[in-house]
Amino acid sequence: MPSYDDALVLFHEWTETDSLRRHAYAVEAAMATYAEQFGEDVETWRITGLLHDMDYEKHPSLDEHPFVGVKVLEERGYPETIRTAILGHASYSGVARETKMAKTLFAVDELAGFITAVGYVRPNGLEGLTPKSVKKKLKDKRFAAAVSREDIHQGAEELGVDLMEHIANVIEGMQREAKRLGFA
Ligand SMILES: [Fe+2]
Repeated sequence: MPSYDDALVLFHEWTETDSLRRHAYAVEAAMATYAEQFGEDVETWRITGLLHDMDYEKHPSLDEHPFVGVKVLEERGYPETIRTAILGHASYSGVARETKMAKTLFAVDELAGFITAVGYVRPNGLEGLTPKSVKKKLKDKRFAAAVSREDIHQGAEELGVDLMEHIANVIEGMQREAKRLGFA
């Protein structure tokens, strides 16, 4: 199986825009936190988070994302657990989220994007951000309107983690790697 460093090289080849890179790093950071909590393999979970939207910049259509990327990963020798989780994060793929890793990827994807948006409008970024204020923002339908609240709720439910706890976990994971996510 390719290493994390291999995955990072591949990711950089496919994804050039800062915003999409940061999104991938945010999802990766959240995956790492959960892997630690669940006693799973942190590197594998990091790679899954990092590469989940790998093809999105070049192939954003529903016909192609994430199928193009997953095909590349197969050719490069990435294991089925990673590929299935990536397929499963796109609900329209029809691929069920059966593993803990697949459920976690879906659960953290939209939420990480939302927390990034919250961080951007705060003077201190992610520093001192509480789950309570994230939840409050979730209720404000006009804020980061493109983020699916339904996916966030569904993700936490599938994972079996209370929403507030889930938000706290993702904040914590992102705070630990704040600099890489574009926060000072
Ligand atoms: Fe994503």
